[in-house]
Amino acid sequence: MQSPTVSTARRRRRGLGPAILLPLAVFLAAVGAAAAATASPQDAAAMQAVAVALGADKALGWDTPDPCSPKPWPGVGCDSDGRVTAVQVGGKGLTGTLAPEVRNLTELMRLEVFSNRLTGPLPSLAGLNSLQVILVHNNSFASIAPDFFKGLSALTAVSLDDNPFASWPVPADLADCASLLNFSANSVNLTGPLPDFLGAMPSLRQFHVAMNYLSGPVPGSLASLEDLWLNGQQGSPKLSGSISFIANMTKATQLWLHSNDFTGPLPDFSGLTSLYDLNLRDNQLTGPVPDSLVNLKTLKSVALGNNMLQGPTPAFGTGVVQDKSGIFQFCLPDPGKPCDPRVNLLLEVAAGFMYPYKLAQGWKGNDPCTGFVGVECNNGNITSLSFTNKGLTGSISPSISKIATLETLVLSGNNITGTVPKELADLPALKLVDLSNNNLYGQLPAFRNNVILKTDGNPNIGKDAPPPPSLPDGSGNGTKPGDGSGGNNKGSASSSVGVILGSVFGAIAVLGLIGALGFYCYKRKQKPFGRVQSPHAMVIHPRHSGSDPDMVKITVASGNANGAAASNQAYSQASTDPRDIHVVEAGNMVISIQVLRNVTNNFSQDNILGRGGFGTVYKGELHDGKKIAVKRMESGVMGNKGLNEFKSEISVLTKVRHRNLVSLLGYCLDGNERILVYEYMPQGPVSQHLFEWKEHNQQPLEWKKRLSIALDVARGVEYLHSLAQQTFIHRDLKPSNILLGDDMKAKVADFGLVRLAPSDGKCVSVETRLAGTFGYLAPEYAAEPVSSLPYKDTQ
Ligand SMILES: *[C@@H]1O[C@H](CO)[C@@H](O)[C@H](O)[C@H]1NC(C)=O
Ligand SMILES: *[C@@H]1O[C@H](CO)[C@@H](O)[C@H](O)[C@H]1NC(C)=O
Ligand SMILES: *[C@@H]1O[C@H](CO)[C@@H](O)[C@H](O)[C@H]1NC(C)=O
Ligand SMILES: *[C@@H]1O[C@H](CO)[C@@H](O)[C@H](O)[C@H]1NC(C)=O
Ligand SMILES: *[C@@H]1O[C@H](CO)[C@@H](O)[C@H](O)[C@H]1NC(C)=O
Ligand SMILES: *[C@@H]1O[C@H](CO)[C@@H](O)[C@H](O)[C@H]1NC(C)=O
Ligand SMILES: *[C@@H]1O[C@H](CO)[C@@H](O)[C@H](O)[C@H]1NC(C)=O
Ligand SMILES: *[C@@H]1O[C@H](CO)[C@@H](O)[C@H](O)[C@H]1NC(C)=O
Repeated sequence: MQSPTVSTARRRRRGLGPAILLPLAVFLAAVGAAAAATASPQDAAAMQAVAVALGADKALGWDTPDPCSPKPWPGVGCDSDGRVTAVQVGGKGLTGTLAPEVRNLTELMRLEVFSNRLTGPLPSLAGLNSLQVILVHNNSFASIAPDFFKGLSALTAVSLDDNPFASWPVPADLADCASLLNFSANSVNLTGPLPDFLGAMPSLRQFHVAMNYLSGPVPGSLASLEDLWLNGQQGSPKLSGSISFIANMTKATQLWLHSNDFTGPLPDFSGLTSLYDLNLRDNQLTGPVPDSLVNLKTLKSVALGNNMLQGPTPAFGTGVVQDKSGIFQFCLPDPGKPCDPRVNLLLEVAAGFMYPYKLAQGWKGNDPCTGFVGVECNNGNITSLSFTNKGLTGSISPSISKIATLETLVLSGNNITGTVPKELADLPALKLVDLSNNNLYGQLPAFRNNVILKTDGNPNIGKDAPPPPSLPDGSGNGTKPGDGSGGNNKGSASSSVGVILGSVFGAIAVLGLIGALGFYCYKRKQKPFGRVQSPHAMVIHPRHSGSDPDMVKITVASGNANGAAASNQAYSQASTDPRDIHVVEAGNMVISIQVLRNVTNNFSQDNILGRGGFGTVYKGELHDGKKIAVKRMESGVMGNKGLNEFKSEISVLTKVRHRNLVSLLGYCLDGNERILVYEYMPQGPVSQHLFEWKEHNQQPLEWKKRLSIALDVARGVEYLHSLAQQTFIHRDLKPSNILLGDDMKAKVADFGLVRLAPSDGKCVSVETRLAGTFGYLAPEYAAEPVSSLPYKDTQ
């Protein structure tokens, strides 16, 4: 979140001509005029106290008597009644404290003191019912007032991240903030459980509480949230219990639950039709990955490692970036390859018992007859299941009756509920059934006389009486165990598994925690919020939202990305293995060479669309029929020049996006290969329509179309010159670099020679050679003495 004044000031300052000076002057005049009113005495007094405590009297010149006139103190906003409405001093190197008098600024709408080194308590803001935005993150506040949020009824966004608060619970007053959209409180020593009222907050969309000390189960009521970060809780226990609450979160786009103590199976994902980023790493989840997740069309990024997930390795689509690091317990490594039928049968049995962790952990590989815990075989046929004291809950799945060779079934000393399925009596080879010391009820099936049956320690066995009604645990309609027999006793099964596992895996968890903490601190020291990426990650992301579902998002993971994506990343790094960091910047666009070979028929001659200065452009067709243009740099120019071209082009194309500029869909850097993937422009270059129309059996361009093409090009160039984040000079604007779509709309292409104009108007480095095609350079660019050109190399 950035303050609007800052961004307005930074935006479009780099105009190329005097044209923008006029609007700028008007803008400045307007600001000056609005600010003349004298501050109200109440606000003036409060601001004096705030100024002194922050040290802003000295650091920012807040030392005049009136904070609003003759002009407002820098970073202070006043309205026409002389009321202070904004205090925006993020990142000013302030080292003081925030005075409690800030609470007297009753018209305050924005409070931004983020990224300073402020200490002391964060005072109460109770009652400031105009306050909309609070950004106090990245400071050293030692505590937060217990009634900080009381009565903040207009609050829409709050960011508290990265403050060393004394431990505090998620405050109940938050429930007053009925307008709250974004709540961000990562790394602020939050403790205790997540309160139930979160689900009742009508507008809450984003809830970020990563890297705290939260514990206990997640309330099942978070259905309205879009963006949930619970990852990396650092206490013991962490957040725990079932993740079945997810099934209800139909608006979710990003779910980060990694590095916690969640247990049990994955829920049904079919309702989560907007989910694109799911991170469940480093938990104790069990059971198979449901098809409803694998088939989720919106999914772009998934991390499941270091759990005990079972069944086949999921075969996610090529558009999904998978974090494949960590331990996996899938039956076979090959994605989509089905497990041995005997393994599938055992999984059905385990499903009835809510996929207990002990069984998941003890069942490695694809042959149940070689060392599956509790399973014994004869000649490759399962003859015995013996799960004494394995912490089983749930119920006995009738699927057991499909193991026709079963002779022995021992389930004693667990907490199995429900009835004994009648199908068990049909097992032809059965000799021993030991169900003692569980919680079963109901009539026993009619086993044959030669079957030894033990049922002692089940107080309700033989009784028809229904079991005590199981308490709902907010687990929703997640995974249905087994064939859904046995009864409705999903109950609190998974949370009790959590408790048991808490101690069993305590040692593992502590080791992991130390690793995660160590790594987190290390990361922060090194490069506080730097994004770590693996250079050879080869992925293609379909765009997750927006009008055209076939479009692919453009952002490329370049080393210097910063801003929101970068700080997001910081919280995805709570993994136990520092090497495991995965790239999840939304839209990161690396495409594997293999994919590109496939779509271009191995760069076949027949697919060549054209040859340019630095490479050959091939036509490619994706499996869904969408066409792409694949520009492969000539290996001959693969010296520095080619690499520089490539980098230049990527760095420009990732910073600009406009309907009159050809979009980059992805790229590939693999060994010597340098490949850029663009949208395909079916009508080819304008040069063809101007000069070669006869050869192509086309009509000459109508004048109206020429005009509209010229306008399109002008729009694209205008954007490059003045509207993009930075100012770019194309330097090679010629008809062969202007491409046409089917609607004859034109887009500017070939950014290989683009130069970045400095944003501050100062000469940063001097261009020493002219580049581009003579005749297509801007005349003033070609004519001016080279040394006076302020353009700087992009590299
Ligand atoms: C803040 O307001 C309180 C009560 O309205 C008043 O007693 C106090 O003097 C005020 N502080 C300043 C610095 O204006
Ligand atoms: C945190 O604040 C410091 C200045 O105190 C600044 O250098 C740093 O970039 C900030 N970090 C983030 C992530 O904003
Ligand atoms: C809430 O967060 C989202 C995503 O980070 C952001 O786009 C939006 O502007 C934020 N809303 C407010 C009111 O700050
Ligand atoms: C969290 O709060 C506790 C209790 O106030 C304190 O001892 C501890 O140092 C805090 N932890 C962090 C990381 O600030
Ligand atoms: C499993 O048992 C069946 C008889 O039920 C037998 O025909 C088959 O050979 C056995 N399998 C193996 C691998 O021995
Ligand atoms: C068995 O499960 C029931 C609920 O299903 C629970 O109330 C009881 O405490 C559990 N018993 C043990 C020994 O875990
Ligand atoms: C699922 O969400 C609905 C509202 O969207 C809520 O009424 C219901 O209780 C939730 N179910 C669970 C199990 O949390
Ligand atoms: C759970 O599923 C059952 C059957 O599939 C359905 O009747 C019930 O309404 C569902 N409950 C919720 C909370 O979705």
